[in-house]
Amino acid sequence: MGTKITFVTGNKHKFEEVSKLLETSVEGYEVIQSTKELSELQADSLEEVAKFKVNSVKTVIKPPYFIEDAGFFVDDVCKGFPGVYSSYVMKTIGYEGILKILGSTDQRKAHFESVIAYIDEYYQIRFFKGINEGAVELEARGKSGFGFDPIFISKDTPDRTFAELTMEEKNAISHRRRAMMKLIEFLNSKKNKSQSRSN
Ligand code: IMP
Repeated sequence: MGTKITFVTGNKHKFEEVSKLLETSVEGYEVIQSTKELSELQADSLEEVAKFKVNSVKTVIKPPYFIEDAGFFVDDVCKGFPGVYSSYVMKTIGYEGILKILGSTDQRKAHFESVIAYIDEYYQIRFFKGINEGAVELEARGKSGFGFDPIFISKDTPDRTFAELTMEEKNAISHRRRAMMKLIEFLNSKKNKSQSRSN
């Protein structure tokens, strides 16, 4: 039987993306979703937020498990805002608000960041980070994805916004995938080490 690993998230887009990737890349892992509410903390970095969130369910979720925290950073004009405030900004002014703040400026550099906080069976925490660099489009385009996808153009797909990509196309380059690939690399090397010890 495979090792069960729990992904604590209420976001079905994230769960689909991440579980598919993990189950096809590391042999013998089965990803289970927990929608347990994670406590939020307002902090200056995604790592701090992720650490707080992952610890908030320590007594109720059996390890190994992980959480993922992401943010949208508008680099020049907004000095990284909304960043750790991305959820709140999405709920209040939305991506339309970001378009208004930027107006027609040509300083439109932005990026997505994803931080995975993973707790192993000995309750040790590890962080894995992924980034996708790009820019804020002049107007929203596209219907797929979620959050700030309609206004973000990645350097990897410069003619379409994230919301104009298919789920497969976005998942192949996303910040979340890049963080997940680091977790996958770690799990694979851990597996190889324990296999060579038992040989
Ligand atoms: P969360 O706290 O990790 O769920 O992410 C904070 C906010 O960042 C979400 O409410 C989304 O608006 C935004 N966000 C995170 N990941 C993505 C993404 O892949 N595309 C678009 N927006 C995202």
